[in-house]
Amino acid sequence: MCGIVGYIGEQNGIPIAIEGLKRLEYRGYDSAGLCYFKNKKLHISKKKGKVADLEELINKKDSSSIVMGHTRWATHGKPIDKNAHPHFSMNKKLAIVHNGIIENYDSLKEGLIQKGYKFRSDTDTEVLINLIEYIHSDLKLSLSETIQQTLTQVVGAFSILVMSNEDPETIIIAKNGSPLVIGVGKEEYYIASDPSPFLKYTKKAIYLDDGEIAEISRNKLSILTIDQKIKSPVIKQLTMELEEIEKGGYETFMLKEIYEQPKSIVDTLRGRILQETQTIKLRGFNESIENFKNSKRIIIVGCGTSWLAGLVAEYIIEGLAKLPVEVEYASEFRYRDPVIYKNDIVIAFSQSGETADTLSALKLAKEKGALVYGICNVVGSSISRLVNVGTFTHAGPEIGVASTKAFTAQVSVSILIALALAKIKNNISKNDFNQITNELKSIHQKMQFTLSKCRDNIKEIAKKYKNAKNALYLGRGVSFPVALEGALKLKEISYIHAEGYPAAEMKHGPIALIDENMPTIIIATNRRNYEKIFANAQEIKARNGKLIAIVSEGDNQISKIADDFIEVPKTNYYLSPLINIIPLQLFSYHIAKMRGCNVDQPRNLAKSVTVE
Ligand code: G6P
Repeated sequence: MCGIVGYIGEQNGIPIAIEGLKRLEYRGYDSAGLCYFKNKKLHISKKKGKVADLEELINKKDSSSIVMGHTRWATHGKPIDKNAHPHFSMNKKLAIVHNGIIENYDSLKEGLIQKGYKFRSDTDTEVLINLIEYIHSDLKLSLSETIQQTLTQVVGAFSILVMSNEDPETIIIAKNGSPLVIGVGKEEYYIASDPSPFLKYTKKAIYLDDGEIAEISRNKLSILTIDQKIKSPVIKQLTMELEEIEKGGYETFMLKEIYEQPKSIVDTLRGRILQETQTIKLRGFNESIENFKNSKRIIIVGCGTSWLAGLVAEYIIEGLAKLPVEVEYASEFRYRDPVIYKNDIVIAFSQSGETADTLSALKLAKEKGALVYGICNVVGSSISRLVNVGTFTHAGPEIGVASTKAFTAQVSVSILIALALAKIKNNISKNDFNQITNELKSIHQKMQFTLSKCRDNIKEIAKKYKNAKNALYLGRGVSFPVALEGALKLKEISYIHAEGYPAAEMKHGPIALIDENMPTIIIATNRRNYEKIFANAQEIKARNGKLIAIVSEGDNQISKIADDFIEVPKTNYYLSPLINIIPLQLFSYHIAKMRGCNVDQPRNLAKSVTVE
């Protein structure tokens, strides 16, 4: 969480940093702040609220060729002005911005208090900058040596930028567990949590590794490790385009991303289905084919919507390839001392590739000897660099905090893995393989059709239910995790309490909630359990519940008893999540808009959760 930016060069870095922070607001938007040189001294402006509020605070005449900034998702200390970053050290010799958590801050703070240090905020970050200041004055080392020494005493995940009153030409940065990338310009450097703030200026990037510290001045960059080894920087050429991270005429990023799904599926599947040879071309899979052949189970880990894509994958992989799959919240998996066998394959689903719990779960699985496989959307991300092998979803940058196109891209990769696995395990007939791959190759057309057809219908339905206090989402089989994802979308962006349930399980609890005020959204598109879900729909109507049904075109049973229904094109059972999630995303979207919610930046949430 939290976004950090830095600039050092010839230009005025203040507008560059402000613009950069706006691009990083998906990482947190509790407060924002800048540090730059004013009258030859470090100057900090910071404020609770969004980057736009900070912008108002800054004197338009200020100019500085060295700047750092921060947009916060609060961990230690409430989201108030004094806890906003940057933070000064006690004697204002140094300033810091920080993304991450210093776990042992309490004991470090205690030690500093005994040495006479006083604190202005409630944050762990201020402890770190005071520790750096103390060690700096005590050991008389250079600032980068001091930071290197200090970090050996620190436990936790962080990326930091530090500026000093004594050296207006240098920024020192360090990374351990939270992302940090340097943009390389002509006699200028940009620093950020991801490349979006500097994409406009340069596509040359250096990704810092964990345990690395860089000293950056206008003409010079040197990298050393915490254990004092010199590293030569590796410059990568970014392929991302600026248009990909702009709204492109849509009112919000989320809406743009919902509508981008057909394209993101085409991009994700491109070149990966070879029907002539009946093969699936996934480099990560093919490089670890022996592991897949010998494996007795797959464990999927993830958080949030990525975890839910993992649940969908469980149905698809077990159904098609007949290999047992377990799906775990990464945060639970890592702390419950899981049994991991050497021939297990642990697959992480992560859009950002930075989620702290998912990253740690993978580290654990790797230590225990399992093959770790990443399904990520961000090239160069921590997870994509940690895994043995993996497959990228090519959904393009996802900026709306509530995940949409990453989910469908992850599901489409799961289908590919299931097909590839079914092939090597001889569990799929030629006919079925062809039928599913044919359908998959054209699924984007049905997604497009769903998007166009549902547009007005769903808005009307959303209008009817926008004041609901609760909502229930039901599905069976592969539609059950889709129901969970539908409920999550509604909760996240409209703040209506919603629960997803397996339709049959409703009888064991949620049915007690059903009355004339309670909408239930039921996914009833699949023939294989249609009669059962029809019975569940009737149970809801018998209790005067309001029923919104997602049905296949031409449905004449459930649509007749539903208060409202949304027709979607028919497709293969395993591919149905790619279609069925679309009306659910749009339903939440319109309800949230009608309730006046900020859908791109829902309260308390952040897109990239880099703390545990
Ligand atoms: C946050 C985001 C979700 C996302 C989850 C996992 O909670 O708000 O949209 O699904 O993190 O993120 P990841 O990047 O690992 O997919």
